[in-house]
Amino acid sequence: MKKIFLKLGKQPLANSFLQNLRKKTLNREFFYNLNVCFDSKNYLVSISKPVNPRSQYTNKYAHRASESKTMREAFKKIAKKLNNKFKPKIIMEIGSNDGVFLKNFTRKKVIAIEPCKNLAEITKNKFKTYDEFWNLKLANKILKKQKKKVDLIFSANTVSHIPNLDQTFLGIKKVLSKNGILVIEDPSLFEVIKNNSYDQFYDEHVYVFSTIAIDKLVKKYDLRLFHVENISTHGGSNRYYICKNNANFKRTKGLNNVFKKELNYKLNKFSTFNKFSSRVKKSKNDLIKLLTKLKKFNKKIISYGATYKSTTVFNYCRLNNKFIEYVTDTTKNKQGKFTPGTHIPIISPDVGINNTVDYAFLGAWNFKKEILNKEKNYLKSGGKFITHIPKIKII
Ligand code: TMP
Repeated sequence: MKKIFLKLGKQPLANSFLQNLRKKTLNREFFYNLNVCFDSKNYLVSISKPVNPRSQYTNKYAHRASESKTMREAFKKIAKKLNNKFKPKIIMEIGSNDGVFLKNFTRKKVIAIEPCKNLAEITKNKFKTYDEFWNLKLANKILKKQKKKVDLIFSANTVSHIPNLDQTFLGIKKVLSKNGILVIEDPSLFEVIKNNSYDQFYDEHVYVFSTIAIDKLVKKYDLRLFHVENISTHGGSNRYYICKNNANFKRTKGLNNVFKKELNYKLNKFSTFNKFSSRVKKSKNDLIKLLTKLKKFNKKIISYGATYKSTTVFNYCRLNNKFIEYVTDTTKNKQGKFTPGTHIPIISPDVGINNTVDYAFLGAWNFKKEILNKEKNYLKSGGKFITHIPKIKII
């Protein structure tokens, strides 16, 4: 039933920033074929051959959710909302990163699950933290220790990262209390197709979910999707509210509307993804054409934000430092390193954003508003941004 619709070529792990460009380091660089497929039976869009999570979520994991003001504020807001609305006694987060969501709760009630040991270390002192992969075995272990079931399970940008959906949802079903709720946030397939944001596909995004796919999926585990919210984070995501089959929550009108929207957009049809694939090829050609032209005029082009998404764009479009002189990123532990596969140096924006730059490719396009606000001086002095979302455009 699964059929490939998009081939993004040989790709490195989006998170595998290189320490140096020595031969030994380059020889060790890992690549895989990034092919994306659609399953017409369950409406799931996924990477055809996912990478082993143990090589992705290591003790060197670079992403810190707290880096962005947008994300800090978004997590604070949803933490408050869930606390007020559902008044959970015990809260658990699957994929707690640096604790950006959990730090909004008091210590007693909170369980953190984070397999990247460097990140788990950050929350360990404050919360009960398990530095392990989420699966049924861990669910049983927690239940044995904890004795009580969990009232609120939150998981942002994590469920879509775990290849084994059975393990994810069987574990969740095990620890969730009778009237407990599971809240999942992940990039929205509708937004990806609408915005042509093909760079949402990289090794960690094993799945890009639609609401119609989540609805079908959770039924397999005697769970029920009862509400969904379209949210703006990560370039357009969905927040799914799920409960046990017999729990008290009623299916909302909002959910029915999103269902209609997705079916009208034909997210249940292979032809939709085929058309998307043609638009992706055009985006690649247009970007290469623009950058080649600017380079002919000796323009200095850099990239803004060493994002995982830009790993997909750079490797798919084969953009190296002949096009992009360097990438700026605020994350200390990305600075001084090189982009995966394309080996472009990453430096601090304090050094890299100045009036010698003509164009900055918006690698972190999902933070466009925050960035344009922050970089008023760069824009005032004549600096420009290039975005590829939804079409190649100069800002
Ligand atoms: P993400 O899209 O995977 O969250 O990554 C965003 C990256 O962009 C992260 O490494 C931080 C970086 N960034 C900047 O360098 N400057 C900024 O103003 C923002 C918002 C993000």
